[in-house]
Amino acid sequence: MDLPVSLILALRQVERVAVLTGAGVSQESGLRTFRDPQVGLWAQYRPEELASPEGFARNPKLVWDWYAWRREAVKGARPNPGHYALAEMERRIAHFTLITQNVDGLHRMAGSQKVLELHGNIQRVRCSACGHPAETWENDLEGVPRCERCGGLLRPDVVWFGEALPRAELEAAVEAARTCQAFFSIGTSGIVQPAASLPFAARNNGAMVVEINLEPTPLTGKAHFFLQGKSGEILPALVRAVWPAERA
Ligand code: OAD
Repeated sequence: MDLPVSLILALRQVERVAVLTGAGVSQESGLRTFRDPQVGLWAQYRPEELASPEGFARNPKLVWDWYAWRREAVKGARPNPGHYALAEMERRIAHFTLITQNVDGLHRMAGSQKVLELHGNIQRVRCSACGHPAETWENDLEGVPRCERCGGLLRPDVVWFGEALPRAELEAAVEAARTCQAFFSIGTSGIVQPAASLPFAARNNGAMVVEINLEPTPLTGKAHFFLQGKSGEILPALVRAVWPAERA
């Protein structure tokens, strides 16, 4: 795709950038998104059964098994060119904050240093009762492992529907959105709060908003630039255009 020259020139000037990513960024790594028709996880599974405290209380084994299955998928996944391009952007921009809703850890694997994981990390496990983190575990007779300290049921250290986001990460994300000169929203449907409001906070504070997505979203009409296509193709092209090799 042809990238707008005005965007390329503007990005050469900015020193403060914030980026919000969603499941679409990892789609080219073979991981499923949540809301894409047919293939999205929520097309096949009910969020309230699998990703809520109530669902876990009703059927802990179902929830544990679903996350164990996703954890295995994540273990086999590798970053794609979109993840690497974002790590490269971090090296080029003085103040760069990467905010992700993804729990797969692929941004760090690609070399991103400053990553705010708003929805937790699927590789981490903690006790649902006392919060104690668990490094290893064994399934008990009911198929759900228990905390070595208090005997409570272990759960993935991710944010479920109805739960609060980690406070420090959210505060840092809001601060980055409010103070950046350019805000990118990439591969997210933009409907899960509070992450969905970050690009609007950025825009209200004068930032240029750039969206990269396969499809328009509720943000698209408010974005200064909408780059339609795959993040794994657009982001490397953008990095090459803004920082060509001779400027490296
Ligand atoms: P969604 O599945 O809602 O949205 C994925 C977005 O990525 C869609 O808008 C797609 O059009 C777009 N997309 C897909 N493939 C892409 C590609 N290769 N390049 C660019 N865009 C692409 O995922 P999220 O917005 O991340 O929360 O969902 C937000 C939250 O809802 C998740 O963190 C999760 C879920 O419920 C919790 O589990 C708490």
